[in-house]
Amino acid sequence: MIPYGRQTVDDDDINAVVEVLRGAWLTTGPNVELFERSVAAAAGTKHAVAVSNGTAALHCAMHALRVGPGDEVIVPAVTFVATANAAVFEGATPVFADVETDTLTIDVASVASRITSRTKAIVAVDYAGQPCAWDELNALAAAHGLPLVADGCHAIGASYKDKPVGSLAAMTAFSFHPVKHVTTGEGGAITTDDDELASRLRLFRAHGIATDHRTREQRGTFHYEMVELGFNYRICDIQCALGVSQLKKLAPWVERRRAIAARYREALATIDGLELLRDRPEAKNAYHLFVVKLPAGADRAGVHRNLREAGIAANVHYMPVHLHPFYRDRFGTQPGLCPVAEREWQRILSIPMYPALTDSDVDFVVNALKTALR
Ligand SMILES: Cc1ncc(COP(=O)(O)O)c(C=O)c1O
Repeated sequence: MIPYGRQTVDDDDINAVVEVLRGAWLTTGPNVELFERSVAAAAGTKHAVAVSNGTAALHCAMHALRVGPGDEVIVPAVTFVATANAAVFEGATPVFADVETDTLTIDVASVASRITSRTKAIVAVDYAGQPCAWDELNALAAAHGLPLVADGCHAIGASYKDKPVGSLAAMTAFSFHPVKHVTTGEGGAITTDDDELASRLRLFRAHGIATDHRTREQRGTFHYEMVELGFNYRICDIQCALGVSQLKKLAPWVERRRAIAARYREALATIDGLELLRDRPEAKNAYHLFVVKLPAGADRAGVHRNLREAGIAANVHYMPVHLHPFYRDRFGTQPGLCPVAEREWQRILSIPMYPALTDSDVDFVVNALKTALR
């Protein structure tokens, strides 16, 4: 099967992991720090706080902003559920904004229409690897004195007006799940330039305890104090060694993704009625996903099935979050809330996109899609 996404792991990655296994620190050791420095360098920020996954990263960001009961957090309708769930973990209400028809990133006018006196933060997702309209989002957030959080889980290696994703909002959450650009197996991080936010993130990651085991070891002390309630969202050294090794290959991997996207764009242009997402000219898309919009009236489930029969595992990213039973039951969200998201998601299909995909794989996918549409 050709999956829609998958990791690339080479001998350097494997050796880096084995080296940690032979060493003294399996967790909270030097590789966590090294990985944080590598992520901060990729994001162009002062801090990166590494955590156990992207969901934890979003949760930490909500907590660091002191989001709580009675607050509203604006999120896009088209995203992975974790974006909205992170606000719910802290007792807040997610408020769903619609998306742009042609990019499926959050629609700034829709965000503006959702702001109330209870709004505490805005979370924007760089969907599929494409940065949002960050200038417009920043202007809107600044006008209302609201913090902006980026869910950059699809978009490490992307940039907007030459600024890397990671540095475009008060905090950016990343995921290092195997389908993402670089992987730690499971893993995540939050980047920020703000010292205060960084220290809140670090506290929340480790039970609300002010020092970690390695720091105490270095200082020769056993004493620690828990100053607030936190989680165990730590990531271990084994994962971080893999992450450091993987991040060295981020730039060529993003370039390969962009070359695959260019090949798809050219080949798919000939399919009647099929639409591709618009690339913002002022941004560099890191192409986590390659999303096509099937021609109006196409049977998406049938196309998906035909592709599977041809050995291609396409996927759908995503059903709008407010349509999930949990959100309907808990928050009373209904169809009609985000008409663009509700219309467009029914046409979308993510076709294979990962650096190890060869040109002939791409041509094979294109031909299979043409056949499936017939
Ligand atoms: C947009 C988005 N946000 C958050 C997450 C959560 O990341 P993780 O799976 O690492 O918890 C994902 C992961 O798929 C995602 O795609």
